[in-house]
Amino acid sequence: MALIKRLASIFLLSLLILALALPLSNYLLQRARVKTNNGDLQFQAFSEVLQNSCVDCHSADLTVYPVYYQLPAARTVIDRDIEIGRAALCLNRDQLRGTEPIAMADLMAIARTVNEGSMPPANYRALHWNVAGGVSPHDKLAILNYVKSKNVQLEVKPISVERSMESPQKLKLGAKLYVDKRLSSKNSLSCASCHNLEKGGADGLPFPSSEDGRKGRLNTPSVFNSRHNFRYFWDGRFDNLNALLAGHLEDSALECSDALIAKLCRDPEYIELASQAYPDKPFGKELMVDSLAAYVGSLTTPSCKFDRYLKGERALPAKAIAGWRLFQEKGCVTCHSGVNLGGMSFEKMGLKADYFAYRLEKHQIAESDVDAGRFNVTKVPSDRGKFKVPSLRNVALTSPYFHDGSVKDLAEAVQVMSEFQLGEKLSDKETEELVEFLKSLSGTHRK
Ligand code: HEC
Ligand code: HEC
Ligand code: HEC
Repeated sequence: MALIKRLASIFLLSLLILALALPLSNYLLQRARVKTNNGDLQFQAFSEVLQNSCVDCHSADLTVYPVYYQLPAARTVIDRDIEIGRAALCLNRDQLRGTEPIAMADLMAIARTVNEGSMPPANYRALHWNVAGGVSPHDKLAILNYVKSKNVQLEVKPISVERSMESPQKLKLGAKLYVDKRLSSKNSLSCASCHNLEKGGADGLPFPSSEDGRKGRLNTPSVFNSRHNFRYFWDGRFDNLNALLAGHLEDSALECSDALIAKLCRDPEYIELASQAYPDKPFGKELMVDSLAAYVGSLTTPSCKFDRYLKGERALPAKAIAGWRLFQEKGCVTCHSGVNLGGMSFEKMGLKADYFAYRLEKHQIAESDVDAGRFNVTKVPSDRGKFKVPSLRNVALTSPYFHDGSVKDLAEAVQVMSEFQLGEKLSDKETEELVEFLKSLSGTHRK
């Protein structure tokens, strides 16, 4: 009897030791650190907190599993929790490093949840190792301070009136290529066919067509001011104009093959222009792309009415000023921010309600793979349905709207935005004022 008692107590004691040792062992786990390197101290502190307290459930590949993850029962629960967490928010290494922006909507949600103390969720804490204590007041401040500073940084600013720094020779070469239909396989399309400078830098169509009439699946964005976008294409797959154009020549409806480029590069007129733009280099695809990128980079529309208003001139009618106020108060500016009123982050289309269900009912357009947006590049679940926020400069000239080209009328686009991004229906008066404000963003390009 005594022996059984003794064995039982040894057993209980070992259980106790085990119970204590398991959580303690978690502190010995090595965590992979992402170094921040953008020199912003506030960001550094912010990223530290995320890496200490959040990435276990909110990153694709930075999760550190506790020792008891080896137990099948624990594993099932932990895996499920992380899956739910990742679907809500999933940060990648570039975002924690500071080289890729975090969506403004995500930043606001991070600040909100940390402020409320609702993360990590209480009912998940039991099984989740070193985050059970929640976020300390010190860490909370680091998060809130950074998000506040980011808001200031994203201020809407006028487009610079400075002319392009590129040489006139390069711009001349790029401008000629831009309108040259010999860049397309059947000599019927040029860049300007789809990015028409008289049509706000776009084509006025829901989708462009290829030379043999096949329809594209994404609306053509404006080329104007595109140099200020942080990434290119709706899903942001390119991060600079040269990389974009090297691919776009062949992938767009131009279907401009390397053989076609080689042929065009033997044209005496181009050889002459290229020798002025790039003395000592043989003309080929690389220089062609470079001069096109220089030219596209020079396509800006400074001094629109709104920019003149920002600089203190009396350039805006009262209705447009009221619209600008609404644009800020309602929160459009959280996503449409910076010099381009957009082009600074990826945001979910349908943050507050299911946009794709609405579209199916209203326009009978079923969801397809292009609607996954940023997800197609990253494969991160929370990126599904995120798009690069388009610039709103010249937006009054570039109907139809959205990546799917589904909306013709600017007033309707504004209403869709308010309902699906802000969860709020606008009055007719508010819609009118917002549209009037958006019209003041139309500018002209100085040749
Ligand atoms: C133990 C796993 C876990 C940890 C650690 C965790 N979260 Fe979460 N988080 C979740 C889960 C699960 C959800 C989705 C369910 C929910 O919203 O409660 C979520 C949802 C979110 C959301 C979106 C929900 C909303 O209300 O918008 C944000 C933002 C968020 N977490 C931020 C954070 C931050 C910031 C941290 C670090 C301080 C953190 N989380 C730590 C599991 C976690
Ligand atoms: C057949 C129509 C068509 C032609 C021709 C065309 N584009 Fe595009 N362009 C598009 C579409 C559609 C997109 C968006 C693709 C996406 O997001 O996946 C785009 C995207 C772009 C962008 C990125 C804009 C941004 O901010 O994301 C630039 C810049 C651009 N094109 C420049 C050019 C140049 C320069 C040429 C000539 C070499 C050209 N395009 C030829 C249709 C066209
Ligand atoms: C949560 C972020 C977010 C907020 C808030 C937001 N937008 Fe947008 N906006 C986007 C995204 C993302 C798109 C692209 C969606 C798509 O193409 O599917 C977009 C597209 C647009 C377009 C169409 C532009 C084009 O060229 O196709 C207009 C116009 C617009 N927004 C205006 C507004 C206005 C006005 C508000 C405030 C009432 C607003 N947005 C609020 C993210 C946002």
